[in-house]
Amino acid sequence: MTEVTRTFFESRLQRRGLTALVPTMGFFHEGHLALMTAARQAAETVIVSLFVNPLQFNDPADLERYPRDFERDLEMARAEKVDVVFAPSSEEMYSEPPLTRVRVAQVEDYLEGPRRPGHFAGVATAVAKLFAGLQPDLAFFGRKDAQQLALVRQMTKDLSFPVTISGQPTIREHDGLALSSRNVFLGPEDRTAALTLSAGLFAAADLAEAGEREGGRLLEVASKVAEGVDIEYVTLASQNHAQPLAELDRPSFLAVAARVGKVRLIDNVAFDLVAGQVMADRGRRLERESVLYR
Ligand code: PAF
Repeated sequence: MTEVTRTFFESRLQRRGLTALVPTMGFFHEGHLALMTAARQAAETVIVSLFVNPLQFNDPADLERYPRDFERDLEMARAEKVDVVFAPSSEEMYSEPPLTRVRVAQVEDYLEGPRRPGHFAGVATAVAKLFAGLQPDLAFFGRKDAQQLALVRQMTKDLSFPVTISGQPTIREHDGLALSSRNVFLGPEDRTAALTLSAGLFAAADLAEAGEREGGRLLEVASKVAEGVDIEYVTLASQNHAQPLAELDRPSFLAVAARVGKVRLIDNVAFDLVAGQVMADRGRRLERESVLYR
């Protein structure tokens, strides 16, 4: 049975045993479903929050057109045996006007931060509210938003939230495109161009696994493959603070942001160091067409 709750209070009453939270903005795809599956395996109670958070949109038009379909999402959460879908109103999430913002210095200074002013303060504030209001033991986030993951980990540590953060691999469409709810806005030509982003990252990942450590070389390879897209940045950055790196000498990720037609996409491959060897996490591919298009 999946309960729909609208307040923090009634959601907390549903907690039994170890409780996992999957924070989302809805319009689910297999990336969200993989987070729910991981949460289901780890905890007795799974809460999925569904709130399109206005504080993290710096472009009102982007907020306006963000895809929403509550009944569809609820159906999918039920199929994943989620216990609680917490879908608060804006009034439940924020007082009017909301005067408090959580800022995570440094992590918000790089990559997406300067390009989306206020975005990360919006994310950190929403996640802090979800942690405080729902009191989960575990929380699941995708590695696709590597900088967001760094931000949430740092905030959790700095504010001593008693929550264990789990970062889960990026889920990709069968041809390599990282899943994003925004993919539904890509026309056929845009989609072909968008594929060159992941292709570039994979080429750089092959090189890193073969021993290349120079950031500049990895960026060069990833940028060269990307075609028909308007690249905003390709950057090698540390996993802990999303700080740009010249050398692949610690856990890091190679991140790309680009405009493809009217859509802005981000993607990355993560690099972990195991016994001095680079292991690239390219994510996991779906075998068939995503539920996004059904
Ligand atoms: O990743 C998202 O969907 C959002 O940034 C999050 C974590 C739910 C906060 O609003």
